[in-house]
Amino acid sequence: MHPLVKQGFKPLLKFQLLRKILHRLFFFSLEEDPATFATFEGATLASSIDAMESSIEGPLSDHVWSKLEPIYISSRRKLWQSRKWRYGPLFVLDNVKPVFEKLAEYGISVEGKVYCDLGCGTNHPYGTSAVMYINGATSTIATDLEDSDNQRAAEALYDLLQDCLADPDSWHWSSLPRKQYLTRIQNFNFKALREGNLEAGLASVPLKHIVTSIYEPSIPFETIDIMSSRAVLEHFLDFEIACQKLWKLMSPGAIAYHLIDLVDHRSYLSLEYHQWSFLAEDEQWSDNMCNRLRASEIYECFEKTGFKVKAYDVTKKAEMPRGFRQKLKGRFASMSDEELNTLQIACLIEKV
Ligand SMILES: C[S@@+](CC[C@H](N)C(=O)[O-])C[C@H]1O[C@@H](n2cnc3c(N)ncnc32)[C@H](O)[C@@H]1O
Repeated sequence: MHPLVKQGFKPLLKFQLLRKILHRLFFFSLEEDPATFATFEGATLASSIDAMESSIEGPLSDHVWSKLEPIYISSRRKLWQSRKWRYGPLFVLDNVKPVFEKLAEYGISVEGKVYCDLGCGTNHPYGTSAVMYINGATSTIATDLEDSDNQRAAEALYDLLQDCLADPDSWHWSSLPRKQYLTRIQNFNFKALREGNLEAGLASVPLKHIVTSIYEPSIPFETIDIMSSRAVLEHFLDFEIACQKLWKLMSPGAIAYHLIDLVDHRSYLSLEYHQWSFLAEDEQWSDNMCNRLRASEIYECFEKTGFKVKAYDVTKKAEMPRGFRQKLKGRFASMSDEELNTLQIACLIEKV
């Protein structure tokens, strides 16, 4: 074979094939079911990139960077436009904006308050907290049962803060003067965050991440003034005890906003299940993931704990599949359609 073909065309052909695969994966799967993408196709994409990397020996040459550029640029553009990208600013925006809007409706400000992101997740643990801080919170605590990848958390924070600087009108909601909002952003060490050094990146800001369970929280009691959570409370299997712990963490007069997802989470992973499937399981059944409580049961538990329920909005509802009512088991069988059709609630509770 001609040496040119051997050395030049073969890798080029390999690269074109890889590009096609990556392009297909990205442009066709990202819009599809995210769970599928995150598992099978996500893994395929990751291994394709690994294969690509292992074919590159040593530092990137002028020739090789041009191979990586199309992958980077298509991923970058696609991800930055996606509201489902859990490391991206748009995901944080969709998380935090409703909290601010609800608090504002009730004349509540985060300025001068200690904020807690309950069940912050493992992907972007400081995202919501950072937005609360730059809008005036004194300090923040992001807490979750699971730890996070610090390097990735720093990089995600770098991207978020850049957006907060570039587009302050989309992120600055409090009455804090704009100059102070910008100063608070500058208190982060951007260079360190860009390099994935979380500790140095956060050295001059009062943001904490605490890995702990709600049942034995290693957070001092009565210290949280404003708390929020998204898709977390449905995971507290002993809801009554969890509510009592929430009560203890909150300071007198503190406010919490919780968005609670009442859907059978198995339906996110498999087409075998729909949003209500778990209501047809026995009373003793558990998937160790969701507590299956319905909206009014959660409401009652909040009140029993002593919370004042200030707002209780149904943010998602749908009709159960035809004929499913006959399959309902235990206490679910006697619940109203309105109760069962409620699939998500957003509530504002106060420790009075
Ligand atoms: C569906 S995720 C939501 C994460 C994040 N709030 C978001 O919107 O992306 C639920 C989170 O609750 C956390 N969680 C579940 N049970 C918990 C517990 N007992 N104590 C503290 N965190 C818990 C999980 O570790 C998980 O990160």
